[in-house]
Amino acid sequence: MVKNAVEIHDLHVVRGRRTVLEHLDITVGAGVTGLLGPSGCGKSTLMRCLVGVQQVAGGAVSVFGDPAGSSRLRDRVGYVTQASSVYDDLTVDENLRFFARVLGVDPAHVDRAVDAVDLDDHRDQVVGRLSGGQRSRASLAVALLGEPDLLVLDEPTVGLDPVLRADLWRLFHDLADRGTAVFVSSHVMDEAERCDRLLLMREGRIIADGTPTEIKEKAGAGNIEDAFLAIVRGAAA
Ligand SMILES: Nc1ncnc2c1ncn2[C@@H]1O[C@H](COP(=O)(O)OP(=O)(O)OP(=O)(O)O)[C@@H](O)[C@H]1O
Ligand SMILES: [Mg+2]
Repeated sequence: MVKNAVEIHDLHVVRGRRTVLEHLDITVGAGVTGLLGPSGCGKSTLMRCLVGVQQVAGGAVSVFGDPAGSSRLRDRVGYVTQASSVYDDLTVDENLRFFARVLGVDPAHVDRAVDAVDLDDHRDQVVGRLSGGQRSRASLAVALLGEPDLLVLDEPTVGLDPVLRADLWRLFHDLADRGTAVFVSSHVMDEAERCDRLLLMREGRIIADGTPTEIKEKAGAGNIEDAFLAIVRGAAA
């Protein structure tokens, strides 16, 4: 049994002429791990490395002991990109059946995935006519099809109302309780408190790593946003 879902060693990524990730060493274990940082800091790039679609300049990323992107990981890792990956002109059900075929998973998993994201009442609706939150949940259902052991979710709650956001976070914790390692990014600092563990990122580096309580205490701040600012100011001083 591999202890960590993800082990990243000395990961270095350059996009265009810009260094986007700078010699990162990160592990991701059980529970819900949040990757938080401002727009452009490198969150999506890091997630792309985890699923093996990002060209890297150096370092190693392993997932359950195999190099990120290996075919053995195909149905062990679920990935939801920042842009929705479902087809607007297909219904929820048609989308899921299509992706189940692509992923080579049993179509019987469709029902369970629809149920997990609570879209039963909308499964025959065309995705283009769903609300933003329902759409996000449809994308998430696709990622759940293979019963992944690691879920990589890039800003899944952007633009959702507070009730839907709370629902989704509850779902992430339910999945984590059932053994899925959940790695979720956000640029909204107020989502930090919902994570079991937090990685704060800035300009391609991890500037803090710990539980929300640990990070706040260490920075002497009352909330994560203030902790982030205190850490940035401390580093500049
Ligand atoms: N295809 C690309 N070519 C060159 N540079 C890129 C490319 N994609 C992203 N970048 C740059 O890499 C950096 C990190 O981008 P990334 O998308 O990882 O940030 P992010 O933290 O996910 O931001 P956001 O919160 O806005 O989604 C940015 O400076 C961005 O401009
Ligand atoms: Mg991004």
